[in-house]
Amino acid sequence: SSDHAANITRESSLVSRHERELLLGQRAQTLWFTGLSGSGKSTIAKLLERELTDDGRLCYILDGDNIRHGLNRDLGFSADDRKENIRRIAEVARLLNDAGVIVITAFISPYRNDRAMARDIIGIDSFSELYVNTPVEVCEARDPKGLYKKARLGQITDFTGIDAPYEAPKEPAFVVETAQDTPETCVDKIMAFMKARESTR
Ligand code: PPS
Repeated sequence: SSDHAANITRESSLVSRHERELLLGQRAQTLWFTGLSGSGKSTIAKLLERELTDDGRLCYILDGDNIRHGLNRDLGFSADDRKENIRRIAEVARLLNDAGVIVITAFISPYRNDRAMARDIIGIDSFSELYVNTPVEVCEARDPKGLYKKARLGQITDFTGIDAPYEAPKEPAFVVETAQDTPETCVDKIMAFMKARESTR
């Protein structure tokens, strides 16, 4: 609970986020991917990280590999645990943004309220929601980890898209169409979206 924070005072830093952004020559922000398991979030996130790095920007991916095996290894897939998963990830993204780093997150983040919480933690001006809009039939046909099959057989429960909900974004900043575009084309379009967004700030 947040009660514990009541007796903790904040030390103000002598170095600002803006100063770190100037040092790095970039605006820190969080690109928040959301989509079903097998939708292509991680593939797109990795290619985007490569592209941004080649473009001279400091960025960092948060995904299941470095979060659910570490910081959030105590969490499962109940609605409460998913919420706590997203809350902690958003707090980490906020810290990395404060450090000047561009953050790319790749989590299912199936609940609209939880994504709104993430946006509020990170700050609306630093947050873009990118919807990886791959239909569940396509994800299930791909089934890269065999999890849809297990979910159909009842060997996994609370599986997103099968017996747990996925609430699609109503107003995503960007829609990634992986069923239509190659991963490379998706990333080209996201780079164009980012540049357009930066030029209006
Ligand atoms: S969430 O909903 O945002 O908290 O989920 P996330 O942290 O992205 O973790 C999703 C990956 O965990 C595996 N997995 C499951 N996904 C959904 N539902 C259930 N019940 C489940 N159990 C395990 C699955 O491999 C997801 O990986 P991705 O990369 O999304 O395919």
